[in-house]
Amino acid sequence: MPRTQFDHLARPYRWLEYLTFGPMLARCRFRRIPELTHARRALVLGDGDGRFLARLLATNPMLQADVVDQSPAMLRLLRARTEALGAANRVSIYEIDALAFRPAESAAYDLVIAHFFLDCFTTEQVCELARNIQPNLAPGAIWIISEFSIPRGLAALPARIIVRSLYFAFRILTGLRARALPRHASGLVQAGLALRHRKAFLFGLLISETWAVTGLSRSKKVEATQSRPCRSHQHEFISNQQRRVQPRWRTGWPRH
Ligand SMILES: C[S@@+](CC[C@H](N)C(=O)[O-])C[C@H]1O[C@@H](n2cnc3c(N)ncnc32)[C@H](O)[C@@H]1O
Repeated sequence: MPRTQFDHLARPYRWLEYLTFGPMLARCRFRRIPELTHARRALVLGDGDGRFLARLLATNPMLQADVVDQSPAMLRLLRARTEALGAANRVSIYEIDALAFRPAESAAYDLVIAHFFLDCFTTEQVCELARNIQPNLAPGAIWIISEFSIPRGLAALPARIIVRSLYFAFRILTGLRARALPRHASGLVQAGLALRHRKAFLFGLLISETWAVTGLSRSKKVEATQSRPCRSHQHEFISNQQRRVQPRWRTGWPRH
């Protein structure tokens, strides 16, 4: 499959983001950083130019991070940021398609980060990604996710138009093959994670979510992962407990 080309977007990416959404993407992305000081080993997926990683490393001096991104230009910026911080020795960079990435056997991540990254994949690919990472999650590990979302109610139509326009723009600019937001909850639930917290921004167009490894033992999780198909209907996976943490953005569970 041809690689998505984010290289020529690496430098202008930050400014394009501010031009289109002002400070909102950054607000969504950085929201949980103060709560992540306990983390010791992070897997950071598709961080792009490294703005999030640099802030995370600065806030948490004990953190070691594995970074996966397939854009050399994005990774150059990320590397420069971590070097400027004097934190390059705490970062291992993997320039690879995230779907081909296999964590080292000894890696036990207590934190996984995916900001505006899962939207580069289909639901089935998110399931595959979560399945590949799941055996390397430490007990109590959390995933922090920022994503676009389609809320219910009056905000649905403008959100749908914005998301479609973004996919169209990214298809032209980067060759992105995904055409719609994946139902990432399917992949995460299947990998033994449960939604713990969700905050919506911009009337539900942006979401920040925290998912946590549930109490299942590792072997049981693997069994569960193997036995359940990665279904595409998110609502089938949302347990009552997960529904309770939902802010139910005005009228209900936002559809992706
Ligand atoms: C939309 S940007 C998001 C950047 C950043 N996380 C943010 O919050 O804005 C997507 C990033 O994921 C990377 N990426 C896209 N598809 C990928 C893949 N299949 N494997 C690894 N990295 C990928 C791109 O190179 C880019 O840096």
